[in-house]
Amino acid sequence: MKEAGAVRLGDGYVDLSQPGGLRLRFADYWLRDNCRCRSCRHAGNGQKLYAITDLPADLSASEAAITESNTLRVLWSDGHCSEYPMAWLVEHDLAAVARSKRLRQVELWDRGLIAQLPVADWPALLADPVVELGWLERYHALGFGLLRSVPCEPGTVAEVGDRLGFVRVTNYGRLFDVRSVLNPSNLAYTAVGLGAHSDNPYRHPSPGVQLLHCLESDAPGGDTLLIDGFHAAQLLRDGDPAAFDLLARVPMTFRYSDAATDLVARQTLISIDADGLVRAVHFNNRSADWLDAPAELAADWYRAYRKFALLLQRPELELVFRLNPGDCVVMQNDRTLHGRTAFDPGLGRRHLQGCYIDGDAMQSRRLVLRRSTGTATPHGMQRQDQ
Ligand code: OGA
Ligand code: ZN
Ligand code: ZN
Repeated sequence: MKEAGAVRLGDGYVDLSQPGGLRLRFADYWLRDNCRCRSCRHAGNGQKLYAITDLPADLSASEAAITESNTLRVLWSDGHCSEYPMAWLVEHDLAAVARSKRLRQVELWDRGLIAQLPVADWPALLADPVVELGWLERYHALGFGLLRSVPCEPGTVAEVGDRLGFVRVTNYGRLFDVRSVLNPSNLAYTAVGLGAHSDNPYRHPSPGVQLLHCLESDAPGGDTLLIDGFHAAQLLRDGDPAAFDLLARVPMTFRYSDAATDLVARQTLISIDADGLVRAVHFNNRSADWLDAPAELAADWYRAYRKFALLLQRPELELVFRLNPGDCVVMQNDRTLHGRTAFDPGLGRRHLQGCYIDGDAMQSRRLVLRRSTGTATPHGMQRQDQ
């Protein structure tokens, strides 16, 4: 082992010990692949200029030192030289404690959230990036947000969708009307109540975000209900880990078909990410098709499915409120489940318009607004996936 001040090299790693006691360890290959010099990355756009196979297989650090400007300088076995500011290295600390701080943070909620609904006034949000960022941060933490004073002109929901992201056109068009009609293609277009569900699990990928904009709502009933699917999944995980595991492992088939369309997708009701955190919850009784799984597994899976469905009906998890004309709810369709109570179309009108967008554009907007408003990132290098 060679020693260069607080830097040690050898065995394929660069080890640093900081005056405060912080220890950092980076694999040689990892460090080299993060070189930001002008021959490794394009000076303008930061994109990589070499392929991983261009680096020698037996690459190692030959010399390393910390400079007066608190930068780690490494000379590699192939003669290349790289520099890493110490603050950058600390931000990318790969130790377990540091990595766990970067886990995605969400706030689980239940019916009590009614007192602090994540609301913004649409014209104010359009006019003020600070309002927009505040709303997007709440949306990100909670999995939905409400907009008020959205103009009650038909078609506006797609304009809102195109302002927050990019409307995803489907077989239903750029937007769809939710009202009670004769010969409905979908139970949503009747007056019956709808249990908590995510939309279109029969699509691959399912829509990331759903918007519902209220144009008319003077019919009695038709209240909106929202459920935090991540909270329900957490309750299942805590109370019955085996049931959780089955729903996260065994996919079921969802389907929608009409004269012109036949959409089929197979997915698990609960999806977990590489960190083991719940990444998505999809649940939809109307479009549940069948479970193609071994019979014995199916017996256990159905017990788990029923248990999860019961959880999703718990009144204490249901956030219930009324959408009034000009209100628009924006939901992460892979987290926040939605439904409505039945309404009476004989006693008044109820008309919503909806559309779908993908979630990545909203995420990008949030991160760009953090940059442009100079807002400190609350969780440092927090993983932003989802
Ligand atoms: C839908 C839906 C809810 C409502 O159309 O997907 O869930 O409040 N509608 O009518
Ligand atoms: Zn380089
Ligand atoms: Zn729906």
